[in-house]
Amino acid sequence: MTRTVKVDPENPEESAIAEAAEILRRGGLVAFPTETVYGLGALALDEVCVRRIFEAKGRPAINPIIVHVSDRESAKRLTTDWTSGAERLANTFWPGPLTLVLRRHASVPDIVAAGGPTVGVRCPANRIALALLNATGQPLAAPSANPSNYLSPTTAAHVLKGLDGKVDLILDGGPTRAGIESTVFDLTVTPPTVLRTGPIAFTQIEKELDVRCADQTRGSRVNSVMRSPGQLTRHYSPKTPLLLAANRDELQRMIAERTTENARIAVLSFPPALKASATIRPITMPSHPQEFAASIYSELHAVDELGVHCILVEAPPDTVEWQAVLDRLRRAASRPS
Ligand code: TXA
Ligand code: MG
Repeated sequence: MTRTVKVDPENPEESAIAEAAEILRRGGLVAFPTETVYGLGALALDEVCVRRIFEAKGRPAINPIIVHVSDRESAKRLTTDWTSGAERLANTFWPGPLTLVLRRHASVPDIVAAGGPTVGVRCPANRIALALLNATGQPLAAPSANPSNYLSPTTAAHVLKGLDGKVDLILDGGPTRAGIESTVFDLTVTPPTVLRTGPIAFTQIEKELDVRCADQTRGSRVNSVMRSPGQLTRHYSPKTPLLLAANRDELQRMIAERTTENARIAVLSFPPALKASATIRPITMPSHPQEFAASIYSELHAVDELGVHCILVEAPPDTVEWQAVLDRLRRAASRPS
């Protein structure tokens, strides 16, 4: 049975945190908010506990899991190679939405790393997550708390919808702030490489490291080894088919083509708002990339419940500011091959 407990995101109640930590120490699963999306946590250094995460999510064993830590010292213990680059990035962006891929220490079980030589580590900027990490006294493995390949959860209700009965406790700290998953950055390769776009932009990392970095987040995976399964083309997807329109004209054309008497569609667009009708359910999205990111999964979760025929989305501009959002939309739009 899954229980949900409301927790004050500013000042997490000690009793709720202690209970959650106890469940984790006994080998259970606890979903908790981070600043990005909700995570499905288990003791990272215990193989048996981590296996339960894979089972609950239906996650393929080839996909490694991010380890969450309360501070830099704990991160250092998980790697054999805490580089000056790691030190700099952690200094600047932690706690925060940046996952660092580092050489894995022997204490990190194979299952966390999907058998690979590296481990992804991050310190989340969320008081509930940090309180839980501190109370547990151990690093927590936590992927997004959703069935594999589905949209990430940004509320406790989303977690419950996807994983009811599969997680012991959900700490409900309200909607998450950033709304999309952390940037994943690999420091074990030369040049260091962005594996997943996210709230921290590629350009911010380059500026901090003062070196040219590589961007592996798009297209480059064909015929090469998959470095991060977040690079799987179809990912982060609603169940309803989603189509991306390059601009407003294309959006209008697609709307005209796809609305028939008995096919209702949802349309996510920028202002100015589209007119609602019997067949069109318009949703006006924020014009600012951070605000768009904060609400996109929530809107898609909601639209997925409407039973519409398809979801049309007006694409944001292809600029650095919109890169992470555009990446998620492209993946959501691609059909299984
Ligand atoms: O914001 C986030 O990162 C959220 C919250 C809960 O922290 N977590 C999250 O986890 O999105 P998940 O499992 O849904 O996505 C983790 C991504 C995957 O694309 C995975 O392949 C990649 O990070 N990853 C994890 N460890 C890795 C490693 N050692 N090497 C390369 N990629 C790794
Ligand atoms: Mg995920």
